[in-house]
Amino acid sequence: MTITVRTLKKYKNNNEKFSMLTAYDFSTAKYIDQSGIDVVLIGDSLGMTALGYENTNNVTVEEMKIFTRAVSRGVKNALIVTDMPFMSYTIDIPSALTNIGNMIRCGANAVKLEGCNDYILKLIECTMNMGVPVMGHIGFTPQSQNVIGGHIIQGKTEETAEELFKQAKKLEKAGVFSIVLEMVPENVARYITQELSIPTISCGAGRYCDGFVMVCDDLFGKFGEFTPKFARKYGDMARLIKDCALKYNQDVKNGNYPNENEVY
Ligand code: KIV
Repeated sequence: MTITVRTLKKYKNNNEKFSMLTAYDFSTAKYIDQSGIDVVLIGDSLGMTALGYENTNNVTVEEMKIFTRAVSRGVKNALIVTDMPFMSYTIDIPSALTNIGNMIRCGANAVKLEGCNDYILKLIECTMNMGVPVMGHIGFTPQSQNVIGGHIIQGKTEETAEELFKQAKKLEKAGVFSIVLEMVPENVARYITQELSIPTISCGAGRYCDGFVMVCDDLFGKFGEFTPKFARKYGDMARLIKDCALKYNQDVKNGNYPNENEVY
């Protein structure tokens, strides 16, 4: 690992942007890492992209451990952050610390926790005391989507923007090394970014954060069920996979696979 939490702080101090991208398997993580991405996130978005669940709330600690092990074997340079899944850190501090510690044993360098209430702030302190850096995540927090009432932009009014700012300051004070701002108006994210000494990461929070995150399946054009406005598609992997599978299927059925060079 060459990128650390200190590197991200240095980026912020030098006004340099950094990139974060999700990864869920060994080979994809290896190529993402080789491309120079700064932070690889084993996001609980894998519940939808890799496991086909409807939302992130079905993802278990055991599943996150498997994907964290796979990704960490492929990453040599990037900082590896694992999302703590729904219910894995909100029951009580001892069970949360056990789950967090196990994620580090699987190869993560840090964990991401959603939300900012007194319990989360206390947990951040305990996690840091255990030697594990924490990335915060506020704004739209997918694990609370049933309370929020859907995929709704957060911080649109003066009061809610003020509340987001207060949460960001509390997370900074509690010791997180960076904060994901999800689905937040650009001007609010910009203000928060200017007022914090730690980096902010935009997930649909506009252009003025210190870092930017995307779900790799959106970037690759692989996840077809739903694409958020802020996702940018750089490829068409869905088409590539279908084309390859179609050609292979045709070759098998036409007797063109395997050929004489593909046999022992
Ligand atoms: O689960 C995830 O992929 C995430 C990012 C989109 C921030 O939390």
